[in-house]
This record gives sequence, structure tokens and C-alpha cells, in this order.
Amino acid sequence: MEVKPKFLIKNGKRLDGRKVGEWREIKITTGVIPNADGSCQVDFGKTKVIAAVYGPRELHPKHMVLSDRALVRARYDMLSFSVEDRKRPGPGRREIEISKVIAEALRSVVMVEKFPRSVIDVFVTVIQADASTRIAGLNAASVALADAGIPMKGLVTGVAFGKIYDETGKGVMVADVFKPEDQWGEADIAYAKSIANDEVVLLQMDGDVTKKEFLEGKAMADKAIEYTYQEQVKALKAKYEGD
Ligand code: CDP
Repeated sequence: MEVKPKFLIKNGKRLDGRKVGEWREIKITTGVIPNADGSCQVDFGKTKVIAAVYGPRELHPKHMVLSDRALVRARYDMLSFSVEDRKRPGPGRREIEISKVIAEALRSVVMVEKFPRSVIDVFVTVIQADASTRIAGLNAASVALADAGIPMKGLVTGVAFGKIYDETGKGVMVADVFKPEDQWGEADIAYAKSIANDEVVLLQMDGDVTKKEFLEGKAMADKAIEYTYQEQVKALKAKYEGD
């Protein structure tokens, strides 16, 4: 049983030693599932997620066919061993919700009109969870789509942020929350955007923050997103330039 710590940040240092705006080590690898049309693994510290893309391909069931564009479908799931308490296999309410928000975020960047009547399937699987799995999954999915050669208006890049309490009881905004901060913090906010279109494609908040705190956290997340975006591009180039 985990014990709740007295505070999540002390003398400006978080439980894992990070400063407020600091993100975990980010590792992005393209082409990890060679049988898929496109794939990518994203590690945000101990959070490890794989995305695999299949398509554009024929859509079944037929009644879901869109005559003027492709359907982007996403399925998010966590492996049973990815969390501390074994996760029951298969999608529950949480997985259905996350699949929906991931699909919606990706639909805002994929040029769906280029592939009428077809489907683009995106599978996001969490191998190890340490918070921010939907965001890591979305980062992986957008690189996997690019790896599959699917035309997009831009990549989707996200970093979560949140509010935690320090040793004086003051609320502090932090970038890239990890599990203890997600679990015991005051708020966590999943945030992703398309840098190319300057458009927010996912924003979900659990908890409470003031407008000032929100903007402060978002500014920190934006810096982390800039870095993550560069890593996404690097991962794609590494595969195609072979370095
Ligand atoms: O993962 P994300 O932050 O996008 O979504 P969440 O629903 O806020 O879950 C936060 C974290 O709780 C996950 O990343 C896991 O580390 C953990 N979790 C868990 O331990 N067991 C579950 N069945 C679901 C989530």
C-alpha cells in the first residue's frame, strides 16, 4: 500500500527531484512494430506507450463508411501489468473515454478528405503507466501516423500539467505530472496541441485551478511541448535518414 507523502514539493524540488517546469526523460522511437503501417513508442519517464497505425484500409462495418472522408478510429488500452493493481483486460469506461478524446484530437490534424470511404485505425497500448498515458499515447499516435505516411496538417504534441502542494501548503503549478502528483495533487490537466496550426486539440482537467494558475501551468507545458515536438521530428528523421 502506498503512503501519501506530507507534501509533493519541498524547497522547489518535486518527489523525483524535478523543478516545477522540468519534464521527465523523453524517449521517442519510430517503427517499433514493423508489421504495422506506422508505429512509435513514447516514454515519458516510467510511462511507456506504443502506438500502431493500420490504414488507410477498407472500413468494416460498412454502415460506418463516410462517403467524403476517412474515419479515424482510436483504441486505447492498458496492459494488465502496466499498473500496480492488475488492470482487468479489455476496455472499461476510462478506456472508452480516452479512446474517444485521442481519436478526436487526431481527426483535427489528419487530412481525412484524401481517403474517402476508408478507415485509419490507431491502437494505443500502455505498457507501463506512471500518469499522463493519454498524452504520451497521443504523442506516439501522431508520430505513428506520420510514419505510416498519412498526410497531416501537423503533428500533435502534448504534455500534462498540474497543481500540487508544497511544504507550506501553497499550491504550485508543475509540468509533466507523474503518478504521485496525479494521485495526490490538487489538479491535473491533459493538454495537447498542433504546433503547426496553433490549435489546442485536447484539454481535460481533473481538479481545480484559478485562471492565473492555469496560464502559469500552460506556459510551462508549452515549453515542454516545444521540446517534445523536436524529439518527435528527430525520431521520424532518424528512421528515414537512417541515423
Ligand atoms: O494516464 P492519464 O493521466 O492520461 O489518465 P488518468 O485516468 O488520469 O490516470 C492517471 C494514472 O493513474 C495512470 O497513468 C496510471 O498511472 C494510474 N492508473 C492506475 O494505476 N490504474 C488504473 N486502472 C488506471 C490508472
